[in-house]
Amino acid sequence: MEHRRSNNNGPVVIPIFYHVDPSVVRRQGGDFGKALEAITKRIQPEKERQELLRTWKRALNQAANISGWDSSTFRSENELVNKIVDEVRRKVENTFLPTTEFPVGLESRVDQVFMSIENQSSKVSMVGIWGMGGLGKTTTAKGIYNKIHRKFVHRSFIENIRQTCESDKGYIRLQQQLLSDLFKTKEKIHNIASGTAIINKRISEKKVLIVLDDVTKEQQVKALCGNPKCLGLGSVLIVTTRDAHILRRLEVDCVCTAEEMNENESLELFSWHAFRSASPRANFSELSQNVVNYCGGLPLAVEVLGSYLYKRTKEEWKSVLSILEKIPNDEVQEKLRISYDGLTDDTKKAIFLDVCCFFIGKDRDYVTEILNGCGLFADIGIAVLIERSLLKVEKNNKLGMHDLIRDMGREIVRESSKEDPGVRSRLWFQEDVYDVLTKNT
Ligand SMILES: Nc1ncnc2c1ncn2[C@@H]1O[C@H](COP(=O)(O)OP(=O)(O)OP(=O)(O)O)[C@@H](O)[C@H]1O
Ligand SMILES: [Mg+2]
Repeated sequence: MEHRRSNNNGPVVIPIFYHVDPSVVRRQGGDFGKALEAITKRIQPEKERQELLRTWKRALNQAANISGWDSSTFRSENELVNKIVDEVRRKVENTFLPTTEFPVGLESRVDQVFMSIENQSSKVSMVGIWGMGGLGKTTTAKGIYNKIHRKFVHRSFIENIRQTCESDKGYIRLQQQLLSDLFKTKEKIHNIASGTAIINKRISEKKVLIVLDDVTKEQQVKALCGNPKCLGLGSVLIVTTRDAHILRRLEVDCVCTAEEMNENESLELFSWHAFRSASPRANFSELSQNVVNYCGGLPLAVEVLGSYLYKRTKEEWKSVLSILEKIPNDEVQEKLRISYDGLTDDTKKAIFLDVCCFFIGKDRDYVTEILNGCGLFADIGIAVLIERSLLKVEKNNKLGMHDLIRDMGREIVRESSKEDPGVRSRLWFQEDVYDVLTKNT
């Protein structure tokens, strides 16, 4: 308790009041107080004993004021022990994946997936989450992972499969990540086939939880899980994808469709981003409703437009609405682009495009240093992009960006010269770089 008092980040204390009332510990009364006195009896001289007693009493008083567990409020010791183990594990491991700052309707979406898993609990359960980009598949998959992952010793959440599997090396990297997550081992993998063979051997008959996020080809699932039917009973495999056909080919047990947000959910999410409250500010109700109508229940669009309009004047809101009016309904990227176009200076635009092309998944401090070296004032620039929901900071300080936003940024670079990569401000595909350098374009 002393250490905790002198250090804000000091050790975590969880008091457990085992057959004793917290108020008795706080006041050290009755038998508890007598026992405490008795323990110190052997300490000499008296001055030292009194000093120790004072310290202990103070610590007990503080501990009793921290919320903990009182055994009398549990139906059985079993329940108490389970609760303690759960909570301590949660505190020391923090294996939870960050989802989103302002979740809306997430619990019910997670529960829908959870129920289909529960229905299959005695066998291997393969569940697909399907829906268009930006609807919340990854967010829901993280939610379900957070809900159930502690029941699995072997578990892994593989993100960014679409992007990483653009190359063979990417496949191998993900195979290594999977083995490392599941079994805490570092494997040398020479090619995709040998990686699959190692994985197959290791996971066969094991109870595992594997989430494969944003799968674009059936072969990605095969490369990462071999034959899912060989997994141990009680295993759960969750696949998220924009392509329902993949789920049919994989013969998943159940497909959960990611639904658009309804009007109320959209308005709430929008309000959290635009006003930092659950509903619109007075005088902004109608404007908010109008903007939300253009988002088509797509949380990504709601989030980006809401963040863009945060602390803006009514005139600025009206100008956004007049731009939205002209954008066809299904042109999500055009809607997201309003936020990019609204960046006030070129350095912020440059930072955004640089991150889109080169720095997704890289450490924030590392990127800041490089961009500062280019004279781009990256500390403030990155902070503004995060405020606008164009950029996120994920686990381990890594920069993350939604792939539809990334594609929007890359398209801005590409459209400067569709035919001739040599004229573009940035090149991110190895082949383009090679062509430009060898052909001297
Ligand atoms: N229930 C929700 N509450 C609040 N925000 C949400 C919710 N679901 C999704 N979002 C937000 O919407 C954005 C898009 O969600 P997400 O990345 O999960 O979509 P996705 O379906 O996985 O898209 P893609 O197919 O492009 O991978 C995220 O930034 C997320 O924060
Ligand atoms: Mg996703």
